Amino acid sequence: MVGSIGISKIKTAIFISGNGSNMKNLIKFSKLKTSPIYVDLVLSSNKKANGIRYLKKNKIVYKIFNFKKKKDENKVLKILKKKKINLICLAGFMKILSKDFIKKFNGKILNIHPSLLPKYKGLNTHERVIMNNEKFSGCTVHIVNSKLDSGKIILQKEVRISKKDNPKTLSKKILKQEHVLYPKALKKFLSKT
Ligand code: GAR
Repeated sequence: MVGSIGISKIKTAIFISGNGSNMKNLIKFSKLKTSPIYVDLVLSSNKKANGIRYLKKNKIVYKIFNFKKKKDENKVLKILKKKKINLICLAGFMKILSKDFIKKFNGKILNIHPSLLPKYKGLNTHERVIMNNEKFSGCTVHIVNSKLDSGKIILQKEVRISKKDNPKTLSKKILKQEHVLYPKALKKFLSKT
């Protein structure tokens, strides 16, 4: 368990697949008194995810599921139910959850995506944005529904692209904004539910 159990704090699970910088940021956020969440569990779809190092170091409960089979999702659902998780934050989670899974957590799964949705859904966002000579990109926190990167938008942040930017520098710029946006979006979302 991470963060103090404030009676009104929402029991949250974070799903990751990679570096986990958003996860780290959300865990730090959850420890603040003013945070509406506390992180009870982290699930990784990748046993080699960099984020796991942080979890080990900080003795945070985590589990690994590859989410390849229905069986995995069912096991995950069981764990989430047992732990009475009320909210799932996808944070660099690169698997697509089944319609069934999403239905069971209807309206209670949030995702952060590195573009100004509805533009640039899916993968390789920064490469496509740069190829198209866009002047702006950004990040979006949205509710997950059964269509990829299409659920209701909670908050977005625009980021200006300079002529010198490449996918790597743009990704870095946007990630910095993601770390500000996700906690803000959680506060907004949870003040309404
Ligand atoms: C972030 O930029 C996040 O928006 C993106 O992956 C990165 C993960 O970074 N997510 C997606 O593309 C989801 N489709 P992190 O592991 O350091 O948080």
